[in-house]
Amino acid sequence: MTFEHNTLEQVTTWVNAGHVNDFPENGGSTISHDGDQIAVFNFTVLNKWFATQNLCPHKKQMILSRGIIGTEGETPKVACPYHKKTFSLETGENLNGCEDSIETFPIKIEDDTVFVGLYEKK
Ligand code: FES
Repeated sequence: MTFEHNTLEQVTTWVNAGHVNDFPENGGSTISHDGDQIAVFNFTVLNKWFATQNLCPHKKQMILSRGIIGTEGETPKVACPYHKKTFSLETGENLNGCEDSIETFPIKIEDDTVFVGLYEKK
């Protein structure tokens, strides 16, 4: 499985994920869109937002929104709460080098509303 780091140029739809206050500081929440689960992270310490697939590729668990966020060097990351596999929140790269990577999505904040950038899947 190849991972995809979706860029702004690829976005075809901005999905309203909710008000900024709906998301815990320095944590994640799950939103659903067209049957897909997306993990949205409010990384307050870095003053950044991230979105990734919610599915952890290790044991195929819908769990990443409940992962622990932090940094590895300059790279913001999420660690799956089950077996601690870690993924870059910026590119989705697996930082353990042993599992599939994950899909990431652009995020924007407008008028205190969080939008996740989705794209037309090929
Ligand atoms: S299910 Fe996520 S690390 Fe095992």
